Amino acid sequence: MIRIAATGDIHYDKNSHNRLGQHLIGIEEKADLLLLAGDLTQTGHPDEMRILAEDLKKCPIPTIAVFGNHDYHFNEIQIAKKILTDSGVILLEASSVIINIGEIKIGIAGLKGFGGGFVGACGSEFGEEEMKAFMRHSKKEARHLEEVIKNLNTDYKIVLLHYSPIEGTLTGERKEIYPFLGNYFLAEAIDYGKASICFHGHAHSGIERGETPGGVPVRNVAQPVIRHAFNTYTLN
Ligand SMILES: [Fe+2]
Ligand SMILES: [Fe+2]
Repeated sequence: MIRIAATGDIHYDKNSHNRLGQHLIGIEEKADLLLLAGDLTQTGHPDEMRILAEDLKKCPIPTIAVFGNHDYHFNEIQIAKKILTDSGVILLEASSVIINIGEIKIGIAGLKGFGGGFVGACGSEFGEEEMKAFMRHSKKEARHLEEVIKNLNTDYKIVLLHYSPIEGTLTGERKEIYPFLGNYFLAEAIDYGKASICFHGHAHSGIERGETPGGVPVRNVAQPVIRHAFNTYTLN
């Protein structure tokens, strides 16, 4: 049995010292790895990322993260990335990592994802260049994700995103903003890639549980949704 601790949208700011760190003491008794589903910081400012990195240094289990839209805001993504990875965190950007837990190989495919919308209410590659670029980016991210998942030859394939691949976990959000909360191309990638489970964040007012059209479990682990430092999930 594999135990996964997952959380997202921790939105660290300059006053967040030890906010997550205090919950990481003894986490190895409860989980084999920790997943962070983006929006690690409020603005992506290096000082915010440094405060988070200090906390994550204490984490005794492998910690795997993706960035969220907030982490891009300050526009110092390379610096933020270095600070985070120097603390030992594995940052996934359309990439994967394999973690061995005993005899079991766990593949984790991660990327931020993007908006775009869902079947019947999504953008299209039509009209203005800005609109075409938006949708092109959504689709490109999803195509990357599918490739990364398909290339994993592991006992379990976990997908870690920031944006949502389904509408199911957005219930409670205003319908008008669904196209900014995720897109269904990501769900297609998860289904075609035959993933075991997907974690995402970003939808603070959504709900925790949903599944892709192909039946892959999806968990929205945004902290305002799970209302704990992290939730623990098991794969049997
Ligand atoms: Fe967020
Ligand atoms: Fe977000």
